[in-house]
Amino acid sequence: MSTILRRLPPSEATGLRTGARHSLAELYRPADLVVLGLGVTIGAGIFSIAGRQAATMAGPGVILSFMIAGIASLLACLCYAELSSTMPTSGSAYTFTYVIFGEVWAWIIGWALILELQLAAAVVARAWGELAVRAIANFGVRLPAPDLVVSLLVLSILVLLTGVVALNARIGLRALWVMVAAKLLAIAAVIVVGAVHVVPANFDDFHADPKPLAEPSTTVLDLFVGQSHAFGWFGIFAAAPAIAFAYIGFDIVATAAEETVNAPRAVPKGMIRSLVLATVIYIAVAVVMVGMIPYTRISVDAPLSSAFRGVGVDWMVHVIDIGAVLGLTTVILVLLVGQTRVMFSMARDGLMPRRLATISRRYHTPSRVTLVIGGIAILLAELAPVFTLEQLVVMGALFAFVFVAAGVIVMRHRMPHLDRGFSVPLSPVLPGLSLLATLWLMVNLHVITWVWFALWMVFGLVVYLGYGRRHSLLAAPRPAPPPEPAPGRGRHRR
Ligand code: ALA
Repeated sequence: MSTILRRLPPSEATGLRTGARHSLAELYRPADLVVLGLGVTIGAGIFSIAGRQAATMAGPGVILSFMIAGIASLLACLCYAELSSTMPTSGSAYTFTYVIFGEVWAWIIGWALILELQLAAAVVARAWGELAVRAIANFGVRLPAPDLVVSLLVLSILVLLTGVVALNARIGLRALWVMVAAKLLAIAAVIVVGAVHVVPANFDDFHADPKPLAEPSTTVLDLFVGQSHAFGWFGIFAAAPAIAFAYIGFDIVATAAEETVNAPRAVPKGMIRSLVLATVIYIAVAVVMVGMIPYTRISVDAPLSSAFRGVGVDWMVHVIDIGAVLGLTTVILVLLVGQTRVMFSMARDGLMPRRLATISRRYHTPSRVTLVIGGIAILLAELAPVFTLEQLVVMGALFAFVFVAAGVIVMRHRMPHLDRGFSVPLSPVLPGLSLLATLWLMVNLHVITWVWFALWMVFGLVVYLGYGRRHSLLAAPRPAPPPEPAPGRGRHRR
């Protein structure tokens, strides 16, 4: 087999407690995974992107855009659930691909996940800074030099959260529970108070007549079917890939598998439950948002707040601000955790410097790689025009979805004997549909996003050929497997 297509033996990925490469301590129980999932999923997508898409692209039809992106995400989630129940490792799609398709493909997926998670952390941190400043202003405090304050806040939150992830995972988990509970309360208030002010006439424009886009933008699909329009069915479908940003997160739950008690059963449940809950919440929030005021009056900058101001319930603005600041905090926190786990796994396999795979003896976390990732997130959030790169986050995630869906089909065929804690029903139909839905979302992304993504991948391949291929543990003679643990002694717990 060609070197670059060598495959990780399945036992390295499936062998919990059997001396395979698992080395992270168990931390999560099933309920923690739901909190982790809701923590990372519910964020900028619902607090700002939903309203922006309603105002500029889909009108009230944004509710359907949420359903379309939700169905595509659920299909992908089922595929992730099967593979992570079989290979519960922190590398998630990267490791699945390593076992199923071989090293160079695994590298490509790992590289795409790094783009997704690292950029998402920077985008959400920047959005967090802007939201925090607006929240302060909404309380009547006038800040001098607001741009500088945003930068300082972004720096502070990233330093704080990186510190938490690097130093104490248990504290991070406790903080996550509290913040997720608070954000869910804020969202419950949005839904309940908003529902009272819904006016059915605001849904009349559900399939508003298509209009030319205010700012022309070209998706890959447009290259084939001509210049796109906003609103109408076209707008509803065109908004779905942007809305997919809101669903990003269920895939990150898979990176917690290695640290989960009874992962083969707990991870699929945690992932699917958190995604279903998030979908219901999103659709409910979208319904009240476009139901309260005509979509033409929704502000692109502060959509939910503008809807409540529009119906005269100004105090809800503060509830939304607090919910959004806490909500985005948990998103950044879990994105950093997910990103450390992916890079840690790649380093553990030798594809990245092995030093990044060390676990601190003192803190029992992969603290070194965490500091590197936190540092890169700070640089990106402070220096790069991250909002214009938002679609790249979606692209990175969707690219991994493609391999995960194909992976389910190939693995059923090639490794039917592996234990599966969860199996996608109706395979290969549902994984096949997942593949199609994902490809559909991908061709609705901008051409420029594809170009950036291709450049990132070319850069990645150069790094792989120059470093990873030669340093891969699969390139070295294999060491003797470590002895079986003594009976009754599982992995250590934090
Ligand atoms: N789904 C996450 C958010 O909406 C990334 O912020």
